Amino acid sequence: MRKQIAAANWKMNLNLQQAMELTDQLVNSDIHLNEAHQVLLGVPFPYLLKVKEKTDKIPGMSVCAQNIASTKNGAYTGEVSGEMLQGMNIEFAIIGHSERREYFKESNDVLASKVNLALEYGINPVFCCGESLNVRESNTQNSFVEKQLKESLFHLTANQMKNFIIAYEPIWAIGTGKTATSDQAQEMHAHIRSVISQQYGKEISDTVSILYGGSVKASNAAEIFNKPDVDGGLVGGASLVANEFDTIIKSLKK
Ligand code: 13P
Repeated sequence: MRKQIAAANWKMNLNLQQAMELTDQLVNSDIHLNEAHQVLLGVPFPYLLKVKEKTDKIPGMSVCAQNIASTKNGAYTGEVSGEMLQGMNIEFAIIGHSERREYFKESNDVLASKVNLALEYGINPVFCCGESLNVRESNTQNSFVEKQLKESLFHLTANQMKNFIIAYEPIWAIGTGKTATSDQAQEMHAHIRSVISQQYGKEISDTVSILYGGSVKASNAAEIFNKPDVDGGLVGGASLVANEFDTIIKSLKK
C-alpha cells in the first residue's frame, strides 16, 4: 500500500520552548505507526535539528523542512539549500506551498528547480498544489491543478515519480475553517492520480501519496482520509495542538 501520511506544517509559529514541548507531547503519545504510516513534522529551519533528535527515536516519524532554495549555493542571503538539508540528514521538504507561491512569487518553473534540487540531494518533496476561490468558482480547478503538476513535475522520470508525495491544498480552505468536503477532496485527488497515470502509467500513479490540506482537524480527519484517493493530510493550525494532531495521526487509514 502507498504511504498514508500525516504531515504537520507549523509555518512561522511557536517559540523554541513551545516547539520542544509540542514535540515531546507527540513523541510521548500512544500512537502506533505501522509500516505504511509516516508522520512528518514541518518545522521552521532553526528547529529542524533539535526536533529531529527526538523524532529519530520514533520509527515512521521524521522532520520536514518547509522550503528549499531554488539555487544550489551562492549569494542568496537568507536561503537554505538542498545540500545544507542533506548535510543535516533532513529527508523531506515542503515545496510550493500556496503561501510561498503567493507571498514569495514562486512560479511553477521555480518550483520545478526546487523539486530537481531536492531530489538531487536525496530529499523527498511534499509538493503542494491547489486552486484559489476564483478558480474554484469558475469551475476550472481541474485544469488549473493539472497545469501546476505538468509545469513543475512532469519532467521527472517514472522512477523519480514513484512514491512521490503531493499535497492538494485548495487555497480557499487554508486557515479559513472551511474545508473541502470529503467528496470534493476525493474528486480532485482522483483527478490528480489520473493525470499522473496518463503521464506515467497506473502502476506509478498508484504509488503516489496524495495528501489533502485545508482546515483538517481532529473532528474531520477520519472522514476525509477514508476516501480512496486521500492518503492523509498536510495540516496547519491543528498541528500546533498536540492532542488534535495526535487524533489526526490516528485517523490515517489502517
Ligand atoms: P490549515 O490546516 O491551518 O488550514 O493550513 C493548511 C496548510 O496550509 C497546511 O500546509
